[in-house]
Parts: sequence; C-alpha cells; structure tokens
Amino acid sequence: MDRVKIGVLASGRGSNFQSIIDAIQEGRLPAEVKLLITDNPDAFAIERAKKHAIEHLVLVPKAYASKGDFFDAAAKELKSRGVRLVVLAGFMRLVGKPLVDAFPNRIMNIHPALLPSFPGLHGQEQARAYGVKISGCSVHFVDEGMDTGPVIIQAAVPVKDDDTEETLSARILRCEHKIYPEAIKLFCEGKIEVVGRRVKIKGIAVSDDAVLINPPLSSR
Ligand code: GRF
Repeated sequence: MDRVKIGVLASGRGSNFQSIIDAIQEGRLPAEVKLLITDNPDAFAIERAKKHAIEHLVLVPKAYASKGDFFDAAAKELKSRGVRLVVLAGFMRLVGKPLVDAFPNRIMNIHPALLPSFPGLHGQEQARAYGVKISGCSVHFVDEGMDTGPVIIQAAVPVKDDDTEETLSARILRCEHKIYPEAIKLFCEGKIEVVGRRVKIKGIAVSDDAVLINPPLSSR
C-alpha cells in the first residue's frame, strides 16, 4: 500500500508531531510526513523535523496581507507536495477558510479534553476547575470553528482529587500520543467515513462495557 502523504502544522514543542514520527518509524503508521509548517520560528517542532530529515517551512502570518492569504499560501505548499491529510499538532491558530476548503474532512486536530466540553485554550485546566471526574482527549476533523468539527476518536482519563493542571495535562498527553497516530492510521487505511457530524469507523467493534468509572464502583 502506498504511504499516505501528510503535512503537519505545529506552533510549539511538537510532542504530538514526535509521536507521529515515532509511529511511522516503528512501522505502526503507513504514512509519510512530507512537510512541517510552523508559524513560529522558535518552535521546537523545527528541531524534530531537522532531526528526521523532514522538510519544514516557517510561514509567518505577519508577512501576509490577510489571514486568508496566509492560509491560502499554506494550502498551496501542502498541495504542491501531494499532501492528502493535514495534521494539526499544537497549531495555535484558528484555521482559515482557504485551508479548510482545500482539505475538506482532511484536516485533523487533537484537543486535550472530551469535546464538545472545554474547547479552546487550556482544556485540561478548564475540566479540572469545573470538577469533572473524567476528562481525556479528542481527535476531530477541523472546520472553521474552534474545536467544533466531527469527532473521530476519544480517550478518557480519570481526574484525581489532588490533580494539578500539570499532572492532569501529563496524563492526558500520554493518551494523546497513543490516539493521534491511531486516528491517522484509520484514515490511511480508508476506515473513516464522515456522515454529517458523525464519523463512522469501519471494521472496529466497540465493547458495550463501561470503560472508565471514577471513582470505581465498589465490588461489594
Ligand atoms: C496538546 O496538548 C494538544 O492537545 C493541543 O496542543 C498541545 C500540543 O502539544 N492541541 P505538543 O506541541 O504536541 O507537545
């Protein structure tokens, strides 16, 4: 099977970008990262791209006349390299229409909360401060809204009484690194079907059992 060409957009440390690189290198993901685009010249994601001989481009929004022009330029760079799937990995901007239109249901994002709860910045701390017992992460397709596109895959983690923003974020991040490559793999294998807002995953059985209850039920 041909490897699916993907393009990654990242603004910062790029640990999710790294989890994708690792999954490819370990043979768990039939994809090839063709290009990293960053809007931040200081992003650590650039070092990761260099280390793995992945082409990178720094596109600085200020250099463009409008937000639309910036995203149009990004779309053209991705298309010219044959990219089929765009992956946002800590990309700190709302994606503009030219890019969404160029890749309909072909842009994924990962969010550190169980959407539609706690969208936007600091999803982990929003959930902790609200007092929920279970949070997690969500991979979703990207539309023009803030974390509003169809959900592809989610993972849940417990929120503990003594959690801080840091401890909860670290627990969620470990899940992010597992499910993002999985979601991309489902795409690469042609197992994702989008029906309106619902994403159907072909050929994967889901258990009827509750998977996480916090606190656990008493066995008595
Ligand atoms: C992650 O928490 C992700 O859920 C959010 O931004 C953060 C990016 O982290 N969208 P990293 O740059 O991948 O390490």
